[in-house]
Amino acid sequence: MTDTLAATLADPARRAEARARLDHLCGRGTRFLGSEYALLGGAMSWVSERNLVSAISNAGGFGVLACGAMEPARLAEEIAATQALTSRPFGVNLITMHPQLDDLVRVCLDAGVTHIVLAGGIPSSPVIRAIKDGGAKAIGFAPALVLAKRLIRSGIDALVIEGSEAGGHVGPVSLTVLAQEILPHVHDVPVFVAGGLGRGDAILSYLELGAAGAQLGTRFAASSESIAHERFKKAFIRANARDAVTSVQLDERFPVIPVRGLNNAGTSSFLQHQAETLRRFQSGELTKEAAQLDIEHFWAGSLRRAVIDGDVEHGSVMAGQSVGMITDVQPVREIIGELVDQAIDALIRQEERARYG
Ligand SMILES: Cc1cc2nc3c(=O)[nH]c(=O)nc-3n(C[C@H](O)[C@H](O)[C@H](O)COP(=O)(O)O)c2cc1C
Repeated sequence: MTDTLAATLADPARRAEARARLDHLCGRGTRFLGSEYALLGGAMSWVSERNLVSAISNAGGFGVLACGAMEPARLAEEIAATQALTSRPFGVNLITMHPQLDDLVRVCLDAGVTHIVLAGGIPSSPVIRAIKDGGAKAIGFAPALVLAKRLIRSGIDALVIEGSEAGGHVGPVSLTVLAQEILPHVHDVPVFVAGGLGRGDAILSYLELGAAGAQLGTRFAASSESIAHERFKKAFIRANARDAVTSVQLDERFPVIPVRGLNNAGTSSFLQHQAETLRRFQSGELTKEAAQLDIEHFWAGSLRRAVIDGDVEHGSVMAGQSVGMITDVQPVREIIGELVDQAIDALIRQEERARYG
């Protein structure tokens, strides 16, 4: 970097100007979320609990609690504990397949939760209506333009488009492609981008394409405030992007929902387990249904084993490809500050290029 560019990047007046432009680009997102930055901490089962969620909201982002398989009473307790740690808004992520979804929505509404994120499938119109009638905002995931349009017709208030680079359960399409498919055509509701985002300049590029903000998971999972086991965070620091792979399906008759996580002994055993199950099915020892269940049950409890118990060899170490950008355990405030600074630097560089080539 030349001395002149370094001085320009450090100039407080130029930084303030760029920050104002960034705030403008994020305006729709921050107004929708009620936060200082249009940055959601994506819900992560076992990780996104009271401590991390309140830390993200207190640092100006928007934390989202992961309900996962929690029962309504347990969720009520976690919401109350989060509210005790932050007076800022935060959301709750509910899985649409949860057998007590309606009760969970009621728990959120009774507790005054302002934003409910519906994950794990396309939510039904009645659930969206119940959320809106209860005074909260409903956020859904759109894995394709046609589904984005359907969700908007059902009354969804905002969308997240999550690329296959993300950690956890993923679809087949990258964020680069989803953004081009969806952002130019969806204007009725704010759209937040997710998957593989680790730097503020990359987030800026999506804001310029029309995104209202961004959702990050992996970077926050390795933050100081995350309750994830030290070994889980160390695995994130060691890993490169190419270590965060999706689970492999051995036979198309037995579908495996792709989950992105760090390659370990567990991922190899999963392949062996599928091969063995397939052999038992072919020999007539297992029915097709029993074999499918056997495959699905392989990972039961394994995210907890990795996140809480620190078994990063056999547990499911869900992580996005952005894991390669994690070099240290950092406080949430520092992560958010870094993302904002990188976006500001990129805006100043753009202006300099426009002026001087
Ligand atoms: C450990 C882990 C657990 C996750 N669990 C969930 C979950 O329970 N529900 C959900 O909607 N998304 C879940 N996600 C996805 C995140 O909310 C977020 O969208 C994703 O991490 C964004 O991509 P990134 O990891 O590249 O930042 C999980 C991600 C990780 C890394």
